[in-house]
Amino acid sequence: MPVTIMIGAQWGDEGKGRVVDSLATQADVVARYSGGDNAGHTVFVGEELFKLHLIPSGILHPRTVCVLGNGMVINPVSLVKEIDQLAAMGIDVTPDRLIISTRAHVITPAHIALDALRERALGAQAIGTTLRGIGPAYLDKVGRSGIRAGSMRDLAEFEALLRAAIDPTNDHLREAGADIVDEARVQAILDAAQRLQPYLQDTTAYLNRRLRDGSQVLCEGAQGTLLDVDHGSYPFVTSSNPSVGGALSGLGIGPKHIDRVIGVAKCFSTRVGAGPMPTELDGPLADRLRGTGENFWDEFGTTTGRPRRCGWLDAVLLRYAVEINGFTELVITKLDVLSGFDELKIAVAYEVDGQRLDYPPATVAEIERAQPVYETLPGWQEPVGEARRLDDLPENAAAYVRRIAELCGVPVPVVTVGPERDQVVQMA
Ligand code: IMP
Repeated sequence: MPVTIMIGAQWGDEGKGRVVDSLATQADVVARYSGGDNAGHTVFVGEELFKLHLIPSGILHPRTVCVLGNGMVINPVSLVKEIDQLAAMGIDVTPDRLIISTRAHVITPAHIALDALRERALGAQAIGTTLRGIGPAYLDKVGRSGIRAGSMRDLAEFEALLRAAIDPTNDHLREAGADIVDEARVQAILDAAQRLQPYLQDTTAYLNRRLRDGSQVLCEGAQGTLLDVDHGSYPFVTSSNPSVGGALSGLGIGPKHIDRVIGVAKCFSTRVGAGPMPTELDGPLADRLRGTGENFWDEFGTTTGRPRRCGWLDAVLLRYAVEINGFTELVITKLDVLSGFDELKIAVAYEVDGQRLDYPPATVAEIERAQPVYETLPGWQEPVGEARRLDDLPENAAAYVRRIAELCGVPVPVVTVGPERDQVVQMA
């Protein structure tokens, strides 16, 4: 069957970009289904490093068509910037290679201003959002007052909708003593809207047509399962469904087409922004997992540059992600980072108020009280960046990966051991 869905199994930043990059070689279409330019992945274009926020990395494979699905919220200005940057590097980003759903929602400058205002008002309780206007845009969508991308087809209508949203927001911003959305930003989004007109299409009809024709479709998840508005540690989540249900509703395709659901998980935990993280570490162990920030693969946000919180692998949450998404397999990334530890810990259960749980509790207060029950595994000293086959891995590294598969009840066919395309170990 023709659809593969790839989903982050943790709090985002699992290394999905390179997994998509490798799966995209077999895909005819790569489609994003949720979120917006809060996402970020780093890819190499020739020798040059490039950060993509909206456009799937499938764009680097010349025969692939990239779709921005109806479940997304799209900042037209950011998208035009990304198109122009890719085009300047010689990548073909014409409307026959990139299509935008007319049903996707538009992030306006009002949403971005409101995101900042709300975060400021929350003070110590702030979510730590990426400040890209994601939450306010989804709020308008479910409140039935959003602007759909399709309205950019008629610039006069789009401008009227835009001004009707921005004017009251400006009153609100003035009252709060914040900067208003100025005319330059209104003009910038109008210009961007005009540029995007040829890219707009009914992507639901397009995808279903391609599926009927036997094309291979890869659905590219953004963020991660633990940031899902339904399944994550609400309210410290994003405002969409990065998990498997979001792929179907965010693209308008049915479950009968799905062949594989691939989860991507780092071999330890990271999180950016606020919210509970039971296995979080501080001090030298966290610093070691994080890296110094000198390398692009160190644990600093692609979109915001913030240092990521780091901790041991949490198999309670990973198992939860496996169940929610029905993963058929897990790809484990960054195994090279664990070389040199004497021992490694994996959380296999929690203790909350004297009770042992093998499932995460639902409320933030309970998760914050959760004490991880750790299993300790022996580490390995050897670097693993050159390993390509299971036999090349030190026994303790192979055992660590095997234990993850056992704890989660799904196969781990592939492990990554470095940032380069070929730094991949086939575990079978
Ligand atoms: P928002 O999506 O900007 O509203 O941010 C909500 C939460 O999700 C914050 O904790 C962000 O740090 C987090 N977040 C959003 N997008 C990503 C991502 O692509 N990777 C990791 N964390 C993300």
